[in-house]
Amino acid sequence: MAKVTVVGAGNVGATVADVLAYREVANEVVLLDIKEGVAEGKALDIFQKSPVTMYDTRTVGATNDYSKTANSDVVVITSGLPRKPGMTRDDLIGVNSGIVKSVVEQVVKYSPKAILIIVSNPLDVMTYQAHLTSKFPRNRVIGMAGVLDTARYKAFIAEALNVSVKDVQAQLLGGHGDTMVPLPRYTNVGGIPVTELLPKKKLDAIVERTKNGGGELVKLMGTSAWYAPGASAAAMVEAIIKDQKRVFPCCVKLEGEYGIDDCYLGVPVVLGKKGAEKVLKLKLTKEENELLQTSRKHVLEVMAVLQK
Ligand code: LAC
Repeated sequence: MAKVTVVGAGNVGATVADVLAYREVANEVVLLDIKEGVAEGKALDIFQKSPVTMYDTRTVGATNDYSKTANSDVVVITSGLPRKPGMTRDDLIGVNSGIVKSVVEQVVKYSPKAILIIVSNPLDVMTYQAHLTSKFPRNRVIGMAGVLDTARYKAFIAEALNVSVKDVQAQLLGGHGDTMVPLPRYTNVGGIPVTELLPKKKLDAIVERTKNGGGELVKLMGTSAWYAPGASAAAMVEAIIKDQKRVFPCCVKLEGEYGIDDCYLGVPVVLGKKGAEKVLKLKLTKEENELLQTSRKHVLEVMAVLQK
């Protein structure tokens, strides 16, 4: 019996609940929001889809009633404002840090053993905020960014080579923002290094497009994305609930890995029933390490805003 809560029934949260339901990741998915009736409505809509697409997951909605979330195994937090055109993720910190703090306080009261997956932006610093508030160990506070960022990166590579997305594997380090570090040296297509298949110029362009992948969508839609972000968070939940030991880039607290011990940052992680069970260490080139340090510096700057 697995129970998952998704806090925030906006586009991203509702997508997480929908994907979890049709993939039958949990027996029960609770969707919670502060707006009266919205979570109940979306949960009911997803439940009414189950006889059509055939799944047994029960979706339940709640307006701010955290008692309904009690004893969740995993809690996904999507609360907060999304970006509008012209905004960076960091512009959201003032509003979203307060929201994430109060949500986490409620969540841990009812699910003290849960694993938290943070989706709210600015991602790395909101994951840090969740850690500060929950005081959970690092394996139980994980940020969703790398699965989404590598998904964008893999999709662009598959498109450029006209091959199946299923055969593209990739890793990525750093914060969820313009300083993220996609790693062409650790990217392959059916086992073939991507550097042998695409010219450097094309690969550089794909890396640039990946870094601005969220912004490209904000510009098109006037708000931030939800299908890929929602599915990415759901994939992390699935890896945890089913103890799959998937290797995903995730935002976790670094404790000396990569020579960093002062911030939350994206690194390759093994995800299983204990959450972030292991951080995998890569041997970086001087250039890759410099990019990672730049990303770290940027996250530290935003962390300093939070501390004020
Ligand atoms: C994005 C948001 C979720 O990258 O940060 O689309």
